[in-house]
Amino acid sequence: MGAKIIGTGSCLPATVVTNDDLAKIMDTSDEWISSRTGIRERHLVKEETTASMSAEAARRAMDNAGITAEEIDLIIVGTLSADHVTPSCACEVQAQIGAKNAVAFDINAACAGFMFALNIANAYLQTNTYRTALILGAETLSKIMDWNDRSTCVLFGDGAGAAIVRAEEGSVGVLAFDQGSDGVKGGVLACEGRSNNNPLVETSKELAYVHMDGQEVYKFAVTAVPYSLQKTIQAAGLTVEDIDYFALHQANIRILQSVAKRLKAAEEKFPISLDHCGNISAASVPILLDEMNRKGMLKPGMKIALSGFGGGLTWASAVIEW
Ligand code: COA
Repeated sequence: MGAKIIGTGSCLPATVVTNDDLAKIMDTSDEWISSRTGIRERHLVKEETTASMSAEAARRAMDNAGITAEEIDLIIVGTLSADHVTPSCACEVQAQIGAKNAVAFDINAACAGFMFALNIANAYLQTNTYRTALILGAETLSKIMDWNDRSTCVLFGDGAGAAIVRAEEGSVGVLAFDQGSDGVKGGVLACEGRSNNNPLVETSKELAYVHMDGQEVYKFAVTAVPYSLQKTIQAAGLTVEDIDYFALHQANIRILQSVAKRLKAAEEKFPISLDHCGNISAASVPILLDEMNRKGMLKPGMKIALSGFGGGLTWASAVIEW
């Protein structure tokens, strides 16, 4: 039994904010941002929400897969920026698309969220628990950015990406998977939640924003990601040369170049969306995959290595056959 991706979709907010736009409201420049990260612009929400972008990405993925909402029996959203504590974003998506037969829940594995969702769906599908899964990565990161911290806010954007994964007899789908966490280093990329709010304690009303030690995160990414990819490719019985594309989390062009170098893989095999999207945490991998799919880059039988990495710290890789 193979857990195969049979459709993809994505949704970006209508408003585009360029590096030059940011330079009008803070002390930064297109030169600083693009030379260090490869990011030129990002989409930020005005009216859109994490759930509304997710539902639109889901509709496009269902359309691409040629399935109806009633056929979906599992919805998992990887997100750290859902609109509500409860209901979950997945339950909101279920309601908005009319997937009345699905069980729906969110998971938080930060930038590895979509990859964790893929692995969970794969496990359910392999055991015949469910047949058709809608998995998403979706974020409204702009609401948890400190717009006075130029070292962090220029890196991130908003958006959602989706994939339909179906259990298919005789197909391969996910060939191998690796995932891991290192909670001890969680402080290098963190965002506080709500503070204690009971009558027994003095509470601080400070708002919670993402804070990051960029250089530590960079070191983590360029070490953990090639190692995880190498391990997954080997577990799939393949070599780096067998991989047609590496669809990785879109944090920074220099991280992608460094991973390519460490794997001795051609940079051309690492498609990018970060130039026009920035880093959208859990949404990065499915948005990139959808762009590749819609450009006709993905042909049946191709081997694609996917990897997400970030807050937690968390990381996850998969090798899939398209
Ligand atoms: N515009 C202009 N200058 C900025 C700036 C901005 N947006 N942000 C920071 N700077 C300044 C700093 O204040 C510092 O100035 P100083 O030397 O006068 O003190 C200088 O630029 C260098 O800052 P530094 O943080 O050392 O830059 P860096 O070369 O490490 O690059 C990152 C910063 C964030 C681009 C880099 O560390 C990185 O890519 N890290 C990985 C982050 C990431 O991908 N996170 C998500 C993973 S999921």
